[in-house]
Amino acid sequence: MMPAPDIYQELLRKFRTWYRREPDVAAYAPGRIEVIGNHTDYNEGFVCSAAIDRGTWFVASRRSDKECRLVAGDLMLQADFCTCCNAPLTVNTWANYVAGVLDGFSQRYELPCGFDGMFFSNIPLGAGLSSSAALEVSAALAFSALYGVSIDRMEIARIAQRAEHNFAGVKCGLLDQITSLYGAKGTVVETDFRSMTVKNIPLGKDAAFLMCNTHVKHALVDGEYNSRREACETARDYFASVLPHPVTALRDVSVSEWHQHKGGLDPIVAQRAVHPISENERVLAAVDSLKVSDLKAFGEFMFASHESSRHNFENSTPELDCLVDAAHKIPGVLGARLSGGGFGGSVIVLVHPRDAETAATAMKNSYKAAFGEPCDVCLVHPSDAAYTLPLPR
Ligand code: GLA
Repeated sequence: MMPAPDIYQELLRKFRTWYRREPDVAAYAPGRIEVIGNHTDYNEGFVCSAAIDRGTWFVASRRSDKECRLVAGDLMLQADFCTCCNAPLTVNTWANYVAGVLDGFSQRYELPCGFDGMFFSNIPLGAGLSSSAALEVSAALAFSALYGVSIDRMEIARIAQRAEHNFAGVKCGLLDQITSLYGAKGTVVETDFRSMTVKNIPLGKDAAFLMCNTHVKHALVDGEYNSRREACETARDYFASVLPHPVTALRDVSVSEWHQHKGGLDPIVAQRAVHPISENERVLAAVDSLKVSDLKAFGEFMFASHESSRHNFENSTPELDCLVDAAHKIPGVLGARLSGGGFGGSVIVLVHPRDAETAATAMKNSYKAAFGEPCDVCLVHPSDAAYTLPLPR
């Protein structure tokens, strides 16, 4: 993997060659791993996540007109739109994450000009590491600098989420954007998605994360994601009608209340609902164990989270299940689970750093034995949040 400063230099070089000018602004935003807390964000629950040491660099300069040129720096593909663009692009749809963010800015501010922009990412696509959020957040930070507006980080997260909803068609929560904007080196980000409070909890030197990328992304992922969210909302409305206390999200329902009242729900909806309901309890218990450095207990909660994904939410895949089952048997592995929306992507594995190498080899071998090809395994390090970058003089 090319070191980060070299990636940035390469992007600057390509920008100058393509546009024959210097960029005015530059920003970087990291991808994320979801450590525990699956589909709990839009149910106003809790998540533990971490920004990682892979991300997206975004450079841009002001134009004299209202046109916008955006180049994907890996393939040197260009998308053209304008500051008045208020609906998803139908060609070069990869640019919608950025066009959607720009639309969020234009709803709030008078944008005096368009931009020439270029981005490059070292986050593998479709790996469940939030490459789209990193693109949105890096673009948003670059636009704040380009247009000279100062925006609260939580507001940037909302602009980026709105881009996903309205320009990419995914009714995601705020997890990916918040993690990219609030990560800190060596910590996990604990977010309460009702109060919107974010805490950074030190991970300690004894823990490391392996990311095992299956490279399998199932078709209709976005539709599956949205349908899971709808099931949660149906269940929420039901519990609001049967429970004696207010229910505005599944966050307000306990596992025992679910057991007591699930009979009145469609069985599939009930099965979906128990995933975020039980996951909230797991996240809180996992955070308590992390605070007393009980990594073994933390890892067990990760395994339990995956089991609930597999059986209740059914957002796992045979490839992800194979990796988690293998992880169970590998000495030194503390926990493993799918990370992110599901239906493909990566498994995240918690190990002691001293065991990382042997565990990585064992994970690759198990995957190869089952599917003929090894999966990609690498260490990911909890890292700092998104920032604007200085430009070379
Ligand atoms: C995706 C979404 C997030 C969150 C996770 C599942 O990453 O973008 O908002 O819902 O899935 O926890």
